[in-house]
Amino acid sequence: MATLVSHPDEVKIVSRRFGMGATNIDRYLELDGYKAVQKALAMGPDAIINEMKASNLRGRGGAGFPTGMKWSFVPKQSAKPKYVLCNGDESEPGTCKDRLIFEHDPHAVIEGVMIAAIAVGAHKGYIYIRGEYRYLLDIMQKAIADAYAKGFLGKNIFGSGYDLDIYWHGGAGAYEVGEESALMESLEGKRGVPRIRPPFPAVVGLWGGPTVINNAETLASVPHVIMMGGEAYANVGVPRNGGTRLFCLSGHVERPGVYELPLGYNLKKLIYEVGGGIANGNKLKAVVPGGSSVPCLTAEEIDVALDFDSMMKAGTMLGSGGVVVIDDKTCIVKFAVRTIQFYQHESCGWCIPCREGTDWLKKTLNRFHAGGGVAKDIDNLRYLAENMLGRTFCPLGDAAAMPVIGFVKKFREEFEAHLDGRPCPFEKHPAASPLAVLSH
Ligand SMILES: Cc1cc2nc3c(=O)[nH]c(=O)nc-3n(C[C@H](O)[C@H](O)[C@H](O)COP(=O)(O)O)c2cc1C
Ligand code: SF4
Repeated sequence: MATLVSHPDEVKIVSRRFGMGATNIDRYLELDGYKAVQKALAMGPDAIINEMKASNLRGRGGAGFPTGMKWSFVPKQSAKPKYVLCNGDESEPGTCKDRLIFEHDPHAVIEGVMIAAIAVGAHKGYIYIRGEYRYLLDIMQKAIADAYAKGFLGKNIFGSGYDLDIYWHGGAGAYEVGEESALMESLEGKRGVPRIRPPFPAVVGLWGGPTVINNAETLASVPHVIMMGGEAYANVGVPRNGGTRLFCLSGHVERPGVYELPLGYNLKKLIYEVGGGIANGNKLKAVVPGGSSVPCLTAEEIDVALDFDSMMKAGTMLGSGGVVVIDDKTCIVKFAVRTIQFYQHESCGWCIPCREGTDWLKKTLNRFHAGGGVAKDIDNLRYLAENMLGRTFCPLGDAAAMPVIGFVKKFREEFEAHLDGRPCPFEKHPAASPLAVLSH
């Protein structure tokens, strides 16, 4: 079980019930639970979607797609059943927020799925949780059973005439099934590899039916949007980026943890004020700001707002909200080795640029870090990674290439310091500190 942290700058919306015993359905009801879904039933689908659009809530799974717009793509009429899926696979290194939601507020996820289902006319929802989160599967199983026992799920929910069933499902342990189309394959009992798009899930998704798939944090935010009103929720953040995010601050900071802050919060403040600065009196070298699959920022580049648009302008991405802080005693080449090991291991192997590219990057970086690098390897690494970009079947290839390009581009001198059989300059440093990445 994760320890909860807090800071005065936090705006607790999604985390408002953390630590308050809300896994118990009666306690959840005392804390205004299941009010939003009743309000949503009275509002009806069009009004719900309009409220979601007004909220500027953007997907918390990584890509930041506007949630209301996604829901509006689902056709009103469909010969096949429609579905809502909650993506709780949470496998991105440095990301450990969805687990807190499942642990402390599972009914908020159920309520979010219910509201999404009412909005798009779905009568079945699935909550897919990373298989390694075994203890969270138990929590969710009980929460769903308790909701059925109260009559909140099943036939005629809240006397509205609307029928809705929700199921939970555990993954089998693959990063790739977090990708939405691979998740649907996995849920259908097949090997978790992605599907060709178009068609997109909103039109042809689970078992061929129109499907909304959203991240767990996105869905847990939905009841709050409905209760607060879209505009009020939007005003918590910055233009085009409504509300708050659970930022997972890890690595070399004094106070790592998951903090809920408004979109647009300054990254430097997150590290130095919320996180208490760099641990052990060391200096900041770099930050990987959106889970491990985005280009890093250097210490000089961190005076930037944490919202989807500002991060894009800064040449990186907000991604999954995992902020990994790297101090000046850390070898960037070694960090790159560790990053690519993960992607090479998790590549599903289906397409060549990703399968071969991640393997070549891993082999080259390993050899390089071990002192066997030659000067042309540095440009080759970048060339190889750049040639993976946009050429793979799903974004995992990009996710593997982007951090490597960033490291080579921004820390070339560190790569050069490993040339000509020289030992890693950081390995001999007595204060070399291991990375305390929270989720892996
Ligand atoms: C390789 C890969 C892994 C992903 N893993 C996750 C994940 O663990 N959780 C998640 O919510 N989204 C993940 N995504 C993003 C999903 O494909 C999808 O965009 C997201 O679930 C949509 O929800 P949102 O709009 O609420 O963000 C992943 C994407 C890729 C390419
Ligand atoms: S990019 Fe990688 S993970 Fe995605 S389909 Fe291709 S081989 Fe599989």
